[in-house]
This record gives sequence, structure tokens and C-alpha cells, in this order.
Amino acid sequence: MVYGVAFALGGHRVVAVDIDARAIALLSKGKPTFFEPGLEPALKRALRTKRLSFSGDIAGGVQDAKVAFLCVGTPSRPDGSIDLSYLEAAARTVGEGMRSARDYQVIAVKSTVLPGTTEAIVRPALEKTSGKVAGRDFGLCVNPEFLREGSAVEDARKPDRIVIGALDTRSARALAAVYRGTKCKKLTTDLRTAEMVKYATNAFLATKVSFANELANLCDAFGKLNVDRVVEGMALDPRINPRFLKAGLGFGGSCFPKDVRAIVAAGREHGYESRLLDATLKVNDLQPMRAVDLAERAVGTLEGKRVVILGLSFKGGSDDVRESRAIPLARALIQRGATVVGYDPEAGDAFRAEVPEAEVAPDVRSALAQADVCIVHNDWPQWSELRAAHFAGMRRKTVVDGRRILRREAMKGVELVVLGG
Ligand code: UGA
Repeated sequence: MVYGVAFALGGHRVVAVDIDARAIALLSKGKPTFFEPGLEPALKRALRTKRLSFSGDIAGGVQDAKVAFLCVGTPSRPDGSIDLSYLEAAARTVGEGMRSARDYQVIAVKSTVLPGTTEAIVRPALEKTSGKVAGRDFGLCVNPEFLREGSAVEDARKPDRIVIGALDTRSARALAAVYRGTKCKKLTTDLRTAEMVKYATNAFLATKVSFANELANLCDAFGKLNVDRVVEGMALDPRINPRFLKAGLGFGGSCFPKDVRAIVAAGREHGYESRLLDATLKVNDLQPMRAVDLAERAVGTLEGKRVVILGLSFKGGSDDVRESRAIPLARALIQRGATVVGYDPEAGDAFRAEVPEAEVAPDVRSALAQADVCIVHNDWPQWSELRAAHFAGMRRKTVVDGRRILRREAMKGVELVVLGG
């Protein structure tokens, strides 16, 4: 959807298709189906250009297209492997639309898929239902997306890089035409390499986050160290980029955990045991427990205590609770006998559905009323504006800052415990 909006604003004619009739109805009216900063106005602007339309008729939408992007989800199965059934079904339907197309078309896979998937799963599905042959009758590409939730519109409109994996030169050229007006670094590879670039990127970034988290834990173990200062010092080395070295309570979201699990599981299937990426996941699983430990160390047992989690989405600026570390955090607190109250500017309802045993408060002050401990889980910018007065209603003013986001000087009279702090 974000790419649909971005392509339309960039001057292309776009038909965005989905089997979800409710989503199509809402989007056609300019209403996004999820919270993403800047998306609603961008969607409305794109609709006003008349270059963007939404439809439930997938085959019909594909029929007249020069390029069709497959953007369906590739979720994790319980064993960490990826579920390709949606992608395969979508490829079959797209193939049906291609059947009656007269001109050359290129099909681009934007979904995140393991190396070899486009050749092994997408290509045969497209060929079967279209009756056409890839490379001869139509083009095939892999074009990974690099959108970050919270800045997805900007990332799609002004990407910092474009990777095109192509079956052949003609496919590459046809897809590159879509991005002709976009100035950024561009790389053309084969299909398989582009598929791997996406996993390698997310696995590396996730590993950076786990490294930072481990470093924060080490800093705490030594004492009187601030992990951000240490990272600042590290980053003086031009080989070390400080981005994604911000320690916290672990990475979540719909991408990092799923993608790292998928590449580890697929590596194992291919006979390779990935020790480093396994550790990336292990550190991430343990990291929310750091907040529990810090809270317990400050107030003793959590049994019968009222514990507030500030920030429920997987990161600030998003209403997405998928794989949010607030979920295992809340469950661990509940298991220790605490009453958990959560607050988030956008993700309250979604969180309630995940952890129904937790209370969800309508604002910061009511969340904190009579609480014994507050744990700051994510990095909504508004947390940095909180002052001691906001915490005045707590029974015991113990605050665990899991993101080093609260301003220390504004927290007089509050017992502040800072992760990596
Ligand atoms: C991530 C990548 O950043 C995008 O480039 C990629 O396109 C996307 O996945 C995807 O595969 O579709 P996203 O999941 O939106 O984007 O979120 P990130 O900003 O990467 O954050 C992931 C998690 O890591 C969050 O829980 C965040 O709080 C955490 N994080 C990130 C840290 O704890 N510290 C950091 O320094 C950075």
C-alpha cells in the first residue's frame, strides 16, 4: 500500500489489489488500515491525482499492468520457517491476470523470500496459470523492500537504495524504468542474490541491536557506565556506524525476528548451523527479562505489585505490536504475580488483544496512578517530555528506563533505574 501511494505520487498509474474487501473499501475512501505517520494525507493526495485506485479484482488489475509487484506477507511458522502459501496463491492469481495480457510484463517479488524461492515457487506458479514462460514471454524480478515502520512513506518516496534481482537483462530494464526518476544507489543482481540481500541486511541490523543490548548489559554489570557514551566512542572509528546500536529491551516488529528465524531455520535445513544469528535471537529473547530483573532488584518481589509498561508497540511511532517485546515482558511480570497496566499512544487495543490479562490505560497519568513500578519499553518521542510530576500518582516511584529516554534532570524524587545507564 505504501509503495502504491509512493508510485502514484511519483507519476505512475497504480492499481492496488487485495483479496481483503474491507481493506479495499477503506483505502478507496482514503482511510489507511493501520497507523503510519504521514500515510493518510499521502494516500488522500495520491487518490486525488486519480492515478491510484484500489480493487478486489486481482486478475483484472494485473491484466493491463506493465509491472506487477507481489507484496503479500511471508509469515513465520511455529518452527521459524516461512509460510509461502500466501505468496504462491497470489502468484497463481497474478498468473491468471497475465493470461490475457498482450504486452510484455514484468512480475516483481517485493515479499521477503529466502534465496531460491522466486525461481522455485513463484516462477512455476506464474507460468502454470498464465500459460507463459518466464524470460521468453514475461520478465521476473526480485525487488526487496527496505521500508521502516514509522517512516515508510518517506522511505518509499525517497529510498536510499534500490536492489533489483532479475532473471535477465530485459526484466531488469523493465523494472528499472519504474524507478527512473528516483535518485539513489542502485544495484542489479540475479534473483537469488537480491533475495539474500534482504535477509543479510535485516540479520545484520538485528545482530547490531543484539550486540548493543549485550553491551548495555555488560555496562550494567561493570557499573557506572553509559552504553550510549561507549557507542559514541566506538563510532569514532570510521568503520563503525552507530545507527542500530541503540540498546533497549530487544527488537520486535514484523521483520527482524521473523527474518532472522527464517534464515537460521533455512540454514539448518541446508546443513548449516548459524551460531551467530542464533545468539542474536537468544539475546533478544532474554532482553525483556532484563527489565524484570532491574525492577525486582529495585523493589524486591513483584508479587502483588502494580507494574506499568509505557510503550506497547514494537517501537515508537507505530501501532504495531507484532513481536513487540512488551508482550513477553507483560507475560513475565504477570507470571511473577504483578498486575500489569499498559499505555501506548496508538497500540493499546492491539496489545489488549495479545495480552488480555493486562489492563490498558487511556493516558499516562491514569496508567501510573497507584503503581509501584513503571517500565519504559519503547521509544515514543513523547516519553522524553515526561517529568517527575507525571509520576507523582505512583505509590512507589520506581521507574525502569529501558531506552534511556527519560530526562534524568526532570525526574527529581523518582527512583530511576536505567538500562545501560
Ligand atoms: C526493519 C528494517 O529497519 C527495514 O529496513 C526493513 O525494510 C524492514 O524491517 C522490513 O524488513 O520490512 P522495522 O521493522 O520497521 O524495519 O523497524 P526497525 O526500525 O528496523 O526496528 C526494529 C526493532 O529494532 C524495533 O523493535 C526497534 O525498537 C529495535 N531497535 C532498532 C533497537 O532496539 N535499537 C536500534 O538501534 C534500532
